[in-house]
Amino acid sequence: MDNITNLIRKNILSLKPYSSARDEYKSNQGIFLDANENPFGDLNRYPDPYQWRLKQMLSNQKKIAVENILIGNGSDEIIDLVQRVFCEPKEDKIIICPPTYGMYEVYANINNLEIISIPLTKDFQLNSEAILAQNAKILYLCSPNNPTGNSLENLEYIIKNFNGIVFLDEAYIDFSEQLSLVSKINNYPNLIVSQTFSKARGLAAVRVGIAYANETIISVMNKVKPPYNVSELNQQAAIQSLADESNFKAIIQLIQSERELLKESLLTLDFVLKIYPSEANFLLVEMENATAIYNSLIEQQIITRNRSSVVENTIRITIGTPSENQKLVSALQLVTS
Ligand SMILES: Cc1ncc(COP(=O)(O)O)c(C=O)c1O
Repeated sequence: MDNITNLIRKNILSLKPYSSARDEYKSNQGIFLDANENPFGDLNRYPDPYQWRLKQMLSNQKKIAVENILIGNGSDEIIDLVQRVFCEPKEDKIIICPPTYGMYEVYANINNLEIISIPLTKDFQLNSEAILAQNAKILYLCSPNNPTGNSLENLEYIIKNFNGIVFLDEAYIDFSEQLSLVSKINNYPNLIVSQTFSKARGLAAVRVGIAYANETIISVMNKVKPPYNVSELNQQAAIQSLADESNFKAIIQLIQSERELLKESLLTLDFVLKIYPSEANFLLVEMENATAIYNSLIEQQIITRNRSSVVENTIRITIGTPSENQKLVSALQLVTS
């Protein structure tokens, strides 16, 4: 593994970041005439650019130092940030393992990076040999994977042996029985783990994502991120969510049990050919004529995601409330009759 610093773009290494007014004076005591804010109102002040309160709570819960945590405007911002830190446009490459989350590729196209695509195997696992034979700056992995729903195996073997940054997207980890690799960030200098408040914490509207990595990576990402990337309201919503762990756990359990119930109901339908094992809050379902069924659901105002272009004859169904799931099953029963 190269020294991480050697992987960082030269202009980013030498970048002198914007120093916000709140960087210079950290106390919240005093008369603030430094940031051209309006002195009147409730949301008149810029938010904490480093989100210390939120990070402190995450730090206590995850037993990870605050210096190893970066907060993004959703994990989408973090996916992009990592490319801008490590990848030189028109020169560097990233690896994706489709079928997977689409934004790794979209950002690579925006940032003008070459994309090496190494598809998952038939059972949706990594093709380790093919991945390790490549030379690329970032390898994007997603576990549990979207849209297939399964966890990836051999992650640590790949992280240990890949000669670049491994970005492990754990957006769905809280729905899974698998252990997160967040606790391994100090064992693997090339590992960045991302998580989000959008899924298990039910705060997709709030746009808060988290990156966990060693201090070198986090400090350089801090230089590149917009100074006030997470609003005060968003920080508060995330803090409130972390303060209510019992509600968080109860919702996860409900979604997991609804996932199993929905699976059973779907399997009674004769056009359902296969439901892929899922450790996330969605099911990838193979059906006869998936696109026709997807369209018929839309006519009944039930919107699922047609994934037939990436896994033949499949739709991806997000687990809804018990009554939404019931309505979905009733709508599917109408399709057959
Ligand atoms: C695997 C994966 N990563 C990241 C995201 C985006 O998360 P965020 O809302 O934190 O930007 C999604 C959203 O669907 C996702 O499926």
